[in-house]
Amino acid sequence: MKIVAGNFKSNLTRSASMEYLTALDSMLNTEMCRNKDIYIFPSNTSLVQNNYKHITLGAQNCNDSDSGAFTGEASLLHLQEFEINTILIGHSERRNIFFENDNICARKFEYFKSHNFKIFYCIGESLGIREGGKYLEFLESQLSFIDTNYKNLIIAYEPIWAIGTGLNASVEQICECISHLRGISNAPIIYGGSVNENNSNDILRISDGILVGSASLDINKFYKIISD
Ligand code: 13P
Repeated sequence: MKIVAGNFKSNLTRSASMEYLTALDSMLNTEMCRNKDIYIFPSNTSLVQNNYKHITLGAQNCNDSDSGAFTGEASLLHLQEFEINTILIGHSERRNIFFENDNICARKFEYFKSHNFKIFYCIGESLGIREGGKYLEFLESQLSFIDTNYKNLIIAYEPIWAIGTGLNASVEQICECISHLRGISNAPIIYGGSVNENNSNDILRISDGILVGSASLDINKFYKIISD
């Protein structure tokens, strides 16, 4: 089974997301999804009931609380309203733009683990760390904060230098990191960073799946990635 996930980030309005999800769900069929698990992470304001036939919805971010005084944040109740039990934690944009460090990511991990969520836990090195040569140690240190034996864990390896840059990591670079991570965890390991309809097949061959950003915003490109 391969995971194909789309991260809409802060794109597409609620109506555009709903239109997309309805259309994609009807374009897919059981045969195409026989060996693929399809996930979409829309913006939190675009979350809708998680009852599509071929697509599982997840949240890009959520506070680690049932509810409460956390201005601007969604909490567990907001996800439960839509029966959403999949979440991205530790995306590099959360880490770098919103200052979520390993401790905050680990706290969120523990909270959503205690609620049995499927957790896509994102890790990845910056260009500076890659060029410094100690990127495998860095990835290992990011994972040291969480329980890598958690049964609903999916590790998303997303090198920061490959996100939104059009510069995807090479098959060799991805293979090296994935095989190192396989020595640490039995969780599925997926890759993200400039995945598109032209490179998705090569990356799917060497990984357990892909996390697609900008190419997932175009329904035809994302459909091609799924159906290829
Ligand atoms: P891009 O595919 O736009 O590089 O984004 C990758 C990503 O961050 C997925 O979470």
